[in-house]
Amino acid sequence: MSRLVVVSNRVAMVKQSRPGAEGGLAVAVRAALRQRGGIWFGWSGKTLERDYSQPSVTEVGKITYATVDLTQRDYDEYYKGFANSTLWPLFHYRLDLAEFTQHTWAGYQRVNALFAHRLQPLLKDSDIIWVHDYHFMLFADQLRNAGCKQKIGFFLHIPWPAVPVFTALPMHREIVKALCAYDLLGFQTDEDLLSFQDYIRREADGQVGKDGVIKAFGRTLRTAVFPIGIDTEVFAGMAAESEDSKQVIRLRKSLLGRDLIIGVDRLDYSKGLINRVEAFEHLLTSYPDNRGKVVFLQINPPSRSDVTDYVDIRHELEATAGRVNGTFAEYDWVPIRYLNKSFSRRVLSGFFRSSKVGFVTPLRDGMNLVAKEFVAAQSPKNPGVLVLSRFAGAARELDGALTVNPYDIEGVAERLQEALSMPLKARRERWQSMYSAIARNDVTAWREDFLEQLNRGIQGH
Ligand code: UDP
Ligand code: G6P
Repeated sequence: MSRLVVVSNRVAMVKQSRPGAEGGLAVAVRAALRQRGGIWFGWSGKTLERDYSQPSVTEVGKITYATVDLTQRDYDEYYKGFANSTLWPLFHYRLDLAEFTQHTWAGYQRVNALFAHRLQPLLKDSDIIWVHDYHFMLFADQLRNAGCKQKIGFFLHIPWPAVPVFTALPMHREIVKALCAYDLLGFQTDEDLLSFQDYIRREADGQVGKDGVIKAFGRTLRTAVFPIGIDTEVFAGMAAESEDSKQVIRLRKSLLGRDLIIGVDRLDYSKGLINRVEAFEHLLTSYPDNRGKVVFLQINPPSRSDVTDYVDIRHELEATAGRVNGTFAEYDWVPIRYLNKSFSRRVLSGFFRSSKVGFVTPLRDGMNLVAKEFVAAQSPKNPGVLVLSRFAGAARELDGALTVNPYDIEGVAERLQEALSMPLKARRERWQSMYSAIARNDVTAWREDFLEQLNRGIQGH
């Protein structure tokens, strides 16, 4: 078996990471690498005033972490700038928030090249390289320029936007041309894959075969869908154990028998947090019987707090949640518990199991692991209901969820009411079908499927 080398901007060192602030990529890659072992290469999370250090290498169990620091300038231009103020908003359909500047693009190109050059001396000819997410779309091109011949795959954790949105990016062609230096490009959903293939046909004058093999920019490579999964069985076991933990008992006691609705997300404008609070407000207005009887626990660890749009969404969310609490709270009941901090997945699993409704309403999301974790955590005897945005990748697999359009505030409130009053039999049927899906397509299946297709290459082309 070849050695696996994973590359991602965010690297979650088991003992160093702050739980929850790291996001779905780190959670999934850690689960995938824990079983198979390999190198995990990326940013150390530290910024330096001056030049780069050599990679710092640490071994923990089967994983060898190799991390590189960023200079302050590279952090500003590549991470805060092009990755999180251009690509993230654009790929989440927020053209209104996307900034386009040549100097952040130059920083993005520079850091992709520098990281590729830092990794190269660590590589063996027989390695298989798996690069993750929008930070490193130019990475394979840089490795190829340096003479690397290994198989290199890329998985995009976030959506791939439709052609008219993607082509708003002035450097769209350079990016797709560089992506064609990979051997395999993986996407979360059919919709993402079709948008990419559409670009290849319409904008790059390329060809797309039925088997997902594309020919463009003088390269032939495979494209396919690999919906990311979670460590379903482990998470389900953790939730059952965590039911009797101190925090979960305290949470349940504090509810005094009231129903719990739970939302958990990085504090990000793509997660539909304002719409969510407004939909909950609408529930209290149109179904007043819920007043005093339900509690909405919204957990939002801060994320990318030095990007202005994240500061703005936080203020807006605080104002909206404050307004709803101000309108409806009684001396012995507060409708929204808004928490600006993170919890370990263990504690969250117990919180999910104690909840009647999982409330997941992103305006756009590559997959949304929280939706899958909520399902995994439920008690089979008495499962809660998932209310899920149709714009989360997870909605394609979780057919037992109550699917909502997060822009339709009144419609979401209706579905919430339906979830709160759903009879046990219907809850069980819905849950069973979702649990089967996430047990089948777990994080191991995701990793094996991707690596198998990367290994197989493009026979016959
Ligand atoms: N998470 C966590 N603690 C928190 C909040 C979130 O461990 O306080 C985890 C959550 O359990 C999930 C991941 O962070 O595994 C978030 O992944 P998701 O795909 O839902 O969203 P992302 O942050 O990647 O956009
Ligand atoms: C999402 C992205 C990941 C990113 C994570 C946390 O899951 O797809 O690439 O690592 O958010 O964001 P951060 O900017 O803190 O790494």
